[in-house]
Parts: sequence; structure tokens; C-alpha cells
Amino acid sequence: MDLRITRTSGLVGTIEVPGDKSISHRAVMLGALANGRTRVTNFLRSADCLATAGCFRQLGVAVEDRGSEVIIEGKGLHGLKEPSDVLDAGNSGTTMRLMAGILAGQDFYSCLTGDASLRSRPMSRVTLPLTRMGATILGRANGSLAPLAIRGGGLKSIEYHLPVASAQVKSAVLLAGLFADAPSKVWEPKPSRDHTERMLGYFGAKISRRDNEITVYPEPTLTARDVYVPGDISSAAFFIVGALITPESDLTIRNVGVNPTRTGILDVLTAMGACIEVSNAGTLNGEPTADLRVRSSRLDGTEIGGSVIPRLIDEVPVLAVAAAFAGGRTVIRDAAELKVKESDRLSTTAGELRRFGAAVTETPDGLIIEGGAPLKGASCFSHGDHRIAMALAIVGLASPGETVIRDAGAVSVSFPEFADVLNSVRLQY
Ligand code: S3P
Repeated sequence: MDLRITRTSGLVGTIEVPGDKSISHRAVMLGALANGRTRVTNFLRSADCLATAGCFRQLGVAVEDRGSEVIIEGKGLHGLKEPSDVLDAGNSGTTMRLMAGILAGQDFYSCLTGDASLRSRPMSRVTLPLTRMGATILGRANGSLAPLAIRGGGLKSIEYHLPVASAQVKSAVLLAGLFADAPSKVWEPKPSRDHTERMLGYFGAKISRRDNEITVYPEPTLTARDVYVPGDISSAAFFIVGALITPESDLTIRNVGVNPTRTGILDVLTAMGACIEVSNAGTLNGEPTADLRVRSSRLDGTEIGGSVIPRLIDEVPVLAVAAAFAGGRTVIRDAAELKVKESDRLSTTAGELRRFGAAVTETPDGLIIEGGAPLKGASCFSHGDHRIAMALAIVGLASPGETVIRDAGAVSVSFPEFADVLNSVRLQY
């Protein structure tokens, strides 16, 4: 599917973006491991989260989609059953890595696979600690690539220093820790998103944090709870940048998750000169939420690196777009993790932005963008990566001429309604 975009003079109105992807995955996972019925409202019905729901159905859990809510009939910590076929995580790294943690704790055999992109992404970051805990895991390339065959059960606790700041790896170890023989500890080099920790606490697990050290206690009784999923700031990010770089925008995005481990994008854009007002602060099941009002702004280049990187890891492609429209140079560093996302996002962001005329150089761990080069609509490629497809659509909103994004069907991985929401607020040029 191609997505065609023409220039707009602004994004005006009030929208909501779909539910948070990370929180939707975790709600299904913990709902399945809890005792009782969990209702998830505003669940993200995207390919990634539906893959997680499908895996749990194969593990014997009833996951019912009632339209306005998803109902999970929890089986308790030890109620999953051996699946009769391979579990398919599709394009979703979160599904594969977090499921690996849960399956490592199960006294049965299971096999996890995914699409070509996911089968090329590094899995030793989860198979190593899980194997150390006592699970038997086989995979291609010495256990580092899916499909992964897992024979779990009988786990020992672990004290693990994460080699990379990764919420998926942290979560895999914490979830396996629920099934271990003693408390497990994980240290993260820089704080990454903490939705697993928050939701484990919300469902009744004993989990604590001191600085960058997280301790999880085994064999909790998880109790089903209602979960209301806030809007995904990673989806909102495309609209935030779209509103900033088009001249007549005044856009409000309601009910966005503003967990501080996710708001690096707001900090960086504000430092670049963005006019973003945060109001109506609230909390939903332990997750902070707010409304964001964004108006057209003149942006300046900036330096992005260090501990903010995990807090905006999925927003780097769209931040590069903002930088291309800013005055001056933007340098993004410490972001080598982007090379192992759904595509190599350093290379795909740089290569695709250059098609529009942007001055972007790829470095070993980031990007250098000379802002302000005159851009022109272009024919470009998603590389099968949802966030690249949407970032390119945002470039098209502010570039003269037509932009065509090839293979834009990838947006359904995280934001199936992207084009409709965009059309509902875009002004005619
Ligand atoms: C996610 C963690 C991040 C992020 C991904 C979702 C999660 O991945 O990029 O989109 O839900 O835990 P890493 O843990 O690999 O950084």
C-alpha cells in the first residue's frame, strides 16, 4: 500500500491517539498471569499487540475482543498450557522478548518465531540471562536469532547487569523472575521505560527500585485489575512534530501517556524552541497522563545524547524530521540501538530524508542533520518499518509537491488509523 501526502498549512483541532503499545502488550501478559478477569479499555488493536493476544490464546488463555474493551480470563501464574503450534510474534520485538521471559518460567516446550525483520533482530540479549536462570533455549546462530525453542521451568534467581538500556530485556528478566526460586535483581545502565515494573506493582507483585537497581520477588499472587491504556506518546510524536513544522497549527492531543521514562521527546523539542503546553495531568492505573497542546514553532538545532536516548528511543526518526526543518545543526549520538530496531533506523532515516533534499549524515551511533535545507516532496520507502513510514508522512506535510510512501501498510503495526486521524486535522494548503 502507498500513502500519498501533500503539503498542509497546519494541523488544527483536537485528537486522541490510540492506546500505548507497550502498555497494551503488558496488560495482556499480566492479565493472563493474574487470577480473575482483566478488562483492558483503549487497548491498541494493532498488529503487534494482536500478536501478543494470539500467543496467549495458543497458551490456553481466553482473550476476547469486545470492541470497546479486551477481556482476559486470567489463568494465574501457573495456568498456561503447552501450545500445540509455533507462537508467532509477527513484527513485534516486545512480544518475542517479553514472551521469552514468561515462557522461560513454564515447565513445557514452546517455539517463538516472527517475520523476516524480527528473525534478524538480536535475541541473545534475552536468551543469555534466561539461560543463566536455568531455561533451555535454542535458536539459530547459537541461540541469538529466532525461531527460539524454549524448554522452561525450575528457574534460579539472577542478579543481572543489563549490557544495554533495553526495557524489553529488563522486562524479560523481571517476568522470568516471577517464576524463580528467590528474588532477582536487574541493574540498568540508564533508565528505560518502566511500564512492566509499574504494572507488576498494580497487579499486586512485590517489586522495588533503588536508583538503577530493580528487585522482583517470585511467586506473587497477581490479581486481575481493570486497565485503561493511555494514548501512546510515540504515536502522538508524529502529530506533535507535524504541528510544529507546519505554519498555522494549533493541535490538542488528549489523554497521552506522559510517563517520565517516555517523555524525552517533549524535553528535546521544548529545548529546540517548541511551543508545547502540558495540561490536565492525571494518573491511570499507575501511569501519568496529560493533554498536549502544540502550536507551530520555529525550531533550533540541538544536541541529543546520553541518558535522554532511552527516553525517546522510538522517536528518533521523527526527531530527525524536526531537525531537518530546524535552523542549524542537530547532532544525535549514543543511539546505536537504532540499528537493531524494525529496520536499521539510522540508515533508513538518513537515506529516506535525503530523498527530500535533507542534509543528513549517518554516524556510527547517530545522525548529524544540517537543518533548513529546502525540501521537496519525494517518492520514498518505509523499509517495512511503521515509524519510518509515519516520519516520512510528516516530512510530506511540510514539503512542496507530492510525497508517496511505498509499502506504508507497515503503519498498522502500531497506528492503523494514522491516515484517518491525519486527514481529520490537516488544513488544505
Ligand atoms: C519497548 C522497548 C523498546 C522500544 C520498543 C518497545 C517495550 O525496545 O524500542 O518499541 O515495550 O518494552 P528496547 O527494549 O529494545 O529498547
